[in-house]
Amino acid sequence: MARQPELGVCYYPEHWPEVMWEQDAADMVKAGITHVRVGEFAWSRFEPEPGTYDFEWLASAINTLGDAGLKLILGTPTATPPKWLIDKMPDMLPISREGRTRGFGSRRHYCFSHMGYRRECARITRAMAERFGDHPAVVAWQTDNEYGCHNTTHSYTPAAKSNFQTWLEARYETIGALNEAWGNVFWSMEYLSFEEIELPNQAVTETNPAHRWDYRRFASDEVKAFNKVQTDILRELSPGRDLVHNFMTFVTEYDHFSVSEELDVASWDSYPIGSLDVMPFVRENKEHFVRTGDPDIQAYHHDLYRACGRGRFWIMEQQPGPVNWAPYNPDPLPGMQRLWGWEAFAHGAELVSYFRWRQAPFAQEQFHAGLNRPDGVPDRALHEVTQLGTELKTLGDIEAATQADVAIVYSYDSHWALLNQPQGQNFSYIVQTLAIYRALREKGLNVDFVSPDAPLDGYKLVVLPSQIHVRDEMAMRLTNFDGDLIVLPRTGSRTVSHEIPANLAPGPLSELLGIKVTRAESFREFAAVEVDYRSKIYTFDRWREYVEGDAEAVAHTTDGHPAITRKKNAYYIAGWPDEALLRDFLDVRVAAAGLSILDLPFGVRTRTRGNFRVFVNYNPQRVSIADCVSGELVLGSLDLAGADVAIERLA
Ligand code: GAL
Repeated sequence: MARQPELGVCYYPEHWPEVMWEQDAADMVKAGITHVRVGEFAWSRFEPEPGTYDFEWLASAINTLGDAGLKLILGTPTATPPKWLIDKMPDMLPISREGRTRGFGSRRHYCFSHMGYRRECARITRAMAERFGDHPAVVAWQTDNEYGCHNTTHSYTPAAKSNFQTWLEARYETIGALNEAWGNVFWSMEYLSFEEIELPNQAVTETNPAHRWDYRRFASDEVKAFNKVQTDILRELSPGRDLVHNFMTFVTEYDHFSVSEELDVASWDSYPIGSLDVMPFVRENKEHFVRTGDPDIQAYHHDLYRACGRGRFWIMEQQPGPVNWAPYNPDPLPGMQRLWGWEAFAHGAELVSYFRWRQAPFAQEQFHAGLNRPDGVPDRALHEVTQLGTELKTLGDIEAATQADVAIVYSYDSHWALLNQPQGQNFSYIVQTLAIYRALREKGLNVDFVSPDAPLDGYKLVVLPSQIHVRDEMAMRLTNFDGDLIVLPRTGSRTVSHEIPANLAPGPLSELLGIKVTRAESFREFAAVEVDYRSKIYTFDRWREYVEGDAEAVAHTTDGHPAITRKKNAYYIAGWPDEALLRDFLDVRVAAAGLSILDLPFGVRTRTRGNFRVFVNYNPQRVSIADCVSGELVLGSLDLAGADVAIERLA
């Protein structure tokens, strides 16, 4: 469905005197903003004392904003339980892996498993929904704020332990079955009852990876259950409103596909410059893109969360200037608000909302920019957002994002297994999926992420990153898939309970791929293994496998073993390909699949949506996109300035 992309902003009426609200609302509207998110941290003002609610100030704020024509996204305040609640129920505080209580004084000080806290969340959510659920200006609800932020998905409280035992009992039914599944005969780890099972955080050395895998799955399910308490109430009392939660950059401790099942829209908080500074794996990009952000990380999350939201996603918080929380916090280049906005819309975003309307002069985020300075003067970001709003209006409605030709399967469960048992320190699922994504995007392709449960119909090329456990049903789907299938190492290397499959890796895919993995090794870069692919020498730079079987070898290691194999349409890469090998191999497969690619300049990315192709220049310097554009430019120029955007109307 074609629609006009929209702009939003995060606003904290409780931070500003009421006399300012009306002018703020008018200024938002003037800037082209249509949505405003409020409320998500205001519990101490909603319920100043236990049981005494005060929603009048919020009602007045909602009316003021609504009267100005703004649509409200109401946040439930459960990321910031007030002090009186903690004092009443101190055991709701989370406990760190080391066993330390994480106390009051910032936010997210709760354990997902604490049933008393879930009841308190239900109570405050119900009170809010009863008061505002049918308010005509309220169009959406955000549950809580950034699940998992500040490392909070995993908590080692007695409540978590007891819920974990219940979860395990539901899964295995008998303790004998659990002992068998986990292989607890090893090191005499056998249990007599579920009540004996501890959380896997306090042992002398490495705990059983099967134990940790189940703990991670359990913890993910707890986030889902916690969220559902609120969405059930909101569905009942505020029908017709979109339910949404704001996800984050590379926060992967819970399965976002699963949590999104209870939501209408997946949204996420995009802080490109802060993320670039804290991400260890983009070292080589840190300097060149220091004020623009990594050219693929934003898009990666747009595509991932669009999949989680079953096609619907928003940016709930967009970085407006320097942030406060990274070790270093550079100022984005002029133009980046507009660029990030356009990029999100190109990937299908319905809404891009900025954090925050005005920089706060007090408390933790004093150094965090807003659209306005603390003295109320519009900051650079507000001018850029206003420009973006004007451009959006000129282009009018845009078709929703449609299915791409290429898909990458994204599995949180596999990511967790690799965190538990990397075997080589740098074998990271995130690094791997980002490398694949980057290589495809550099060719100008639209890329979809899909969940391991998603149908693959219609794709011409599917890449399966290390899918540690392959369910039989997934094996069937992959076998029936008739496009090119590219499978990365370690796929099918464990059963659901973390055993090596009886027929060895790739387990249920051995027939499809025509191989058996007989040995695997990891190594540091200096021990890289040379690979000959089409008479050019590359490397496996951290991982290699020895495979045997009836598949044909399309690349060899220079010491004489199959490096990439092929059986019909299914390829297996028996090692971790260096960047050049991954890129060149994918180039060949993409060409063979008949996909049209673009020769994009370094640092430039593109995506099509409807009949528009958007180009974004992540470089600080000017580049020419003349070789990439064949249609009419409706925005920008072929000589694209640093941090600038061009849009082509496709025939
Ligand atoms: C987000 C959070 C916001 C604010 C922002 C600062 O993670 O949701 O409340 O703290 O970061 O960048």
